Amino acid sequence: MFPILVGRCAMRLSGAAIFVASGLLVIPALGQTVAGKWIGTQRVLDNGENDRVFLDLRQTGSELTGTVTTIGHIYQVTGAISGTHFELFSSPKDTKPRVAGDLKGNELHLTRDDDHFVAVRAKPGDEYPPFEHIDPPTLHDVPYNGLAKLPPMGWNSWNLFQSRIDDKTVREMADAMVTSGMRDVGYVYVNIDDTWQGVRDAQGNLAPNKKFPDMKALADYVHSKGLKLGIYSSPGPRTCAEYPGSYGHEDQDAKTFAAWGVDYLKYDWCGARMIYSHDALQPVYQKMGDALLNSGQPIVYSLCEYGSGNVELWGAKVGGNLWRTTGDISDTWTSMISNIEKQAPTAPYAGPGHWNDPDMLEIGNGHMTDEEYRTHMSLWALAAAPLLAGNDIRSMTPAIREILMNREVLAVDQDPLGKQAAPVKSGTLETWVKPLADCSVAVGVVNMGDAETIATVRASDLRPGAEAKLARDLWRHSSVAFHDGLYTASIPAHGVLMLRVLFKD
Ligand code: GLA
Repeated sequence: MFPILVGRCAMRLSGAAIFVASGLLVIPALGQTVAGKWIGTQRVLDNGENDRVFLDLRQTGSELTGTVTTIGHIYQVTGAISGTHFELFSSPKDTKPRVAGDLKGNELHLTRDDDHFVAVRAKPGDEYPPFEHIDPPTLHDVPYNGLAKLPPMGWNSWNLFQSRIDDKTVREMADAMVTSGMRDVGYVYVNIDDTWQGVRDAQGNLAPNKKFPDMKALADYVHSKGLKLGIYSSPGPRTCAEYPGSYGHEDQDAKTFAAWGVDYLKYDWCGARMIYSHDALQPVYQKMGDALLNSGQPIVYSLCEYGSGNVELWGAKVGGNLWRTTGDISDTWTSMISNIEKQAPTAPYAGPGHWNDPDMLEIGNGHMTDEEYRTHMSLWALAAAPLLAGNDIRSMTPAIREILMNREVLAVDQDPLGKQAAPVKSGTLETWVKPLADCSVAVGVVNMGDAETIATVRASDLRPGAEAKLARDLWRHSSVAFHDGLYTASIPAHGVLMLRVLFKD
């Protein structure tokens, strides 16, 4: 069953008949079919390549099946046509069609990712050629590169800018990292995410696109500020945003990144789906792990495969310093909480050099309250998560600045013991406890509910049999006292109480 829009009425289709909300039966007009092969150019990428969409559709009554192939993705689709309007879905979970369109004469007027474009009947040879299959290497352990002894801290372009990122903006972010004081509290990586890529030359060397005229000069600039530069690629032929990936060019790209002076690589599975099943995750990631190690430059290796295949069990063996444990975060309370809670089972596998990554920060992007952003920051710190700010650090409010640069909370994240907390739930309260290297304990109590709630922290729950000697409220920056082994405080809706508690021996 697939949802389809008929006029303004959303509904579900099943079988050949389509009932609109009025109860009227709609059937495709006689002789009108979208079956067959169609080709249209959706957009021109920033590297000048045409992102053509090739549809190969079968139609039985109103039901549609087939494939949609773009420059970077292949989707098996199912859907339906009602009159001249059709919608194609690549997963029953999709709430939005992968491609929607209308048959108008001999053309399909299509919408994909909010782009509108026209497809016509394809000619032989219009198909994308299949990719050559390269067998993944035999498994072996990649030696540790000695990097990321603490969870990496920095900034990444994706959450806010997506494809609207360029050299000028990255330089301005580097400047702002310094002027805001972020660098001095530990944020050092300035990471360019997807859409920087140009095309490969005849020797297979990948250049940046017009938005990044000189990547080496940019790296030099970032380094001159006492910062480090990160970049993004994919083990597939194409990235998520459909730009060239490193498939078949792993060594070459690692050397190119090293020659530019890149210090950090985020390596995103996405386009590898066109070639490999999940069985190949480990050897495919290992290939770039080896390539980075042989590149001649120390490069932090960040795996991004959304937590598939229990990456926490093997991420470090393929040379990874951090690995995403979840799908993409968005700037909402639900998404933020869901990402951090989902990674709770991975807690035992975090440690110096190898970190679980619940995705980049959304703090300051405007769709959560400051209270919720404080909770976001506290949870990432308690989970020893990499801290990659995802906001516009050139124009932060004082509250956001204070949240991102709270040294007492950052010290919890950056604690050298590298333990990752996991939550204990009690009603609407969640308690996260993180042991720290100096034998103190960081505790965060999050109020998941919609009303202010009183929380009691019991010292003996933090360390059985121990008596609290000193406690700091890490958001109020003040000392607080435990009485009879208890500390009680009121926590606002979606807010957090975060303490660091020292014990009497
Ligand atoms: C995936 C990743 C995101 C981002 C985009 C870029 O969705 O999970 O973090 O890198 O790709 O296309």
